[in-house]
Amino acid sequence: MKIIKVKSYGELSRKVADFFTDEIRGNPKITIGFATGETPLGLYKELVKLYKLKKIDFSKVKSFNLDEYYPIRRKDKNSFYNYMFKNLFDKVNINKRNINFLNGESKDFEKECLDYELRIKNNPIDLQILGVGINGHIGFNEPGSKENSKTRLVNLSKETIRRNSRFFKGSIKIPNKALTMGIKTILSSKKIILLIYGKDKKKAIKSLIKGKINSEWPVSFLKNHKDLIVFVENSLLSKS
Ligand code: F6R
Repeated sequence: MKIIKVKSYGELSRKVADFFTDEIRGNPKITIGFATGETPLGLYKELVKLYKLKKIDFSKVKSFNLDEYYPIRRKDKNSFYNYMFKNLFDKVNINKRNINFLNGESKDFEKECLDYELRIKNNPIDLQILGVGINGHIGFNEPGSKENSKTRLVNLSKETIRRNSRFFKGSIKIPNKALTMGIKTILSSKKIILLIYGKDKKKAIKSLIKGKINSEWPVSFLKNHKDLIVFVENSLLSKS
């Protein structure tokens, strides 16, 4: 595990964006696993800036997103699908045919998950970007998730529902279920970048850096990955 300490959220977003640019330049046909949430918003803004400056080209990039609420309409403003188009995909030249997303509208969620898993197997993720929940979840692999878990339907924890409710707009209630890549799916990515942002993530960082691998802190499974880079604000480390 390589830890890159940064002084601020702005620096974190810029550094990761520069890292991305180098990765895409090195392999224009790269397959990227994207995350949603508050943490990568700054990164996506930076990527859009770099694209406008013609420093980055998404035309051959393929993407897979980590997770999606279930059930949810893709058009719903609270869906992760909508988040990705609004914050990144609609603003850069990614080919829409190269975008892979778990479908929160799918009636047959088991088939949806099996298909997604197969698509990833046939098109391995070169670079997976992750955030972490305050309870240590990665993707929507909540505490208790197994190391060998694959893409599946999960129940969201009360904590996650409470926390993510703050983003929910409009009339719909936050679903209490989601589709998510599993821990095994995530660990199969060639390279993983974990972004840690937010004062309430200290316990999660500690479980990754100092704790033992255990399913109560799913983020700790990342210790098993051979190419993990963690970008974290310095202040969070010194007091953890
Ligand atoms: C999002 C995801 C989640 C978030 C995590 C942190 O696709 O899979 O694991 O990365 O909940 O969310 P924020 O960044 O909002 O603190």
